[in-house]
Amino acid sequence: MVKTDSIPALLPTYPPYPFLLVRGEGDRVYDNHGQAWWDFYGGHCVCATGHSHPTVVKAVAAQAASLLFYSAAAAIPVRDQAATQITAFAGMDSVFFCNSGAEANENALKVALLLTGRKKLAAFQGGWHGRTLLAMSVTDDPKMTDPFADQLVPTLRLPFGDLAALAAADLSEVAGVILEPIQSMAGIKTAAPEWFQALRAKCDAAGALLIFDEIQTGMGRMGMPFAAQFYGVRPDLITSAKGLASGVPMGALLMTAAVASKLKSGDLGSTFGGGPLACAALLATVEVIVKEGLMANAKSAADLLRQELVGSVVSEVLGEGLLLGLRSAHAAALKKHLMVEKILVGGSGDPTVLRLMPPLNVSGEALQALVAAIHSFPQP
Ligand SMILES: Cc1ncc(COP(=O)(O)O)c(C=O)c1O
Repeated sequence: MVKTDSIPALLPTYPPYPFLLVRGEGDRVYDNHGQAWWDFYGGHCVCATGHSHPTVVKAVAAQAASLLFYSAAAAIPVRDQAATQITAFAGMDSVFFCNSGAEANENALKVALLLTGRKKLAAFQGGWHGRTLLAMSVTDDPKMTDPFADQLVPTLRLPFGDLAALAAADLSEVAGVILEPIQSMAGIKTAAPEWFQALRAKCDAAGALLIFDEIQTGMGRMGMPFAAQFYGVRPDLITSAKGLASGVPMGALLMTAAVASKLKSGDLGSTFGGGPLACAALLATVEVIVKEGLMANAKSAADLLRQELVGSVVSEVLGEGLLLGLRSAHAAALKKHLMVEKILVGGSGDPTVLRLMPPLNVSGEALQALVAAIHSFPQP
């Protein structure tokens, strides 16, 4: 076997930060020189309860010590408790646990194809749903999906939030319609509540399943448990991952009783899905979100940023709760400036929009640091 120094042992995936990240606490991470960074990126929108929240750490440690793993071949109390808790939190009836966002979406789309017997999917321009084959079929990212074009399932792609286009669309052969209720990677694009209601009615009329990809919008981030509650629309399926277990890998496919009643044991499955460690982390995550008022914090943090960023290099604050976009004609330079100020933010597919997806318990100190850094940006 050939091993050369030019090939790193760890395959590169994302451009890394210019420092070694060794520790996290709340809304900050620390580098190997002990320097603190405000984390408005949240480890890819994952760290819902903040880094290493003591309640989550304690629950995970206790579970690891008592039973690290057993598959769904055995009934395990912590898994049943997690299922009861997350279905109640999301306002859904049943859940299938898996391990990641793409896997949750893959299974949601598989369920739609299976239950309707149809061969087509529908999704939205700018939508991003993951890197497995069905998830790529509905993702609007040609750079990523074009090499696999022949393997993808035919997908009708509609403009997001457009009532007229929705009314004109023919969904009669569509198995499922999937969307991010707020399109994140596309640059924090939102749609009107009436559009969500029209979409629900359109899917009902056409017999297509409605799937909310809530991998970013869920788990309290919009100031409500899920976007489904925020917009007052009950989809047939909701997918969750990222913040679901505060960073312990976990995905979930939440469904209505009508969907669950049509699935047989064996239709879905996963070795690691619903492992005790992830279930314990999920239970602790929901407990922290509810007991510590993190949904209210997400709302008030968004209000503060909207108020305080007026008159700065940021021309508009997009999004809801703590899934926010900062529009700026100088977005790239602003991101670099924030990096110098030791503040991590995300980019997006829109070169004029930076994304904020910090822990839901982001502190006033962190928010003030961000506001001050943005106001100190030397405008050209
Ligand atoms: C909206 C959305 N859906 C799906 C995924 C895929 O999740 P994962 O990376 O856990 O497979 C992502 C990941 O960024 C996402 O943001």
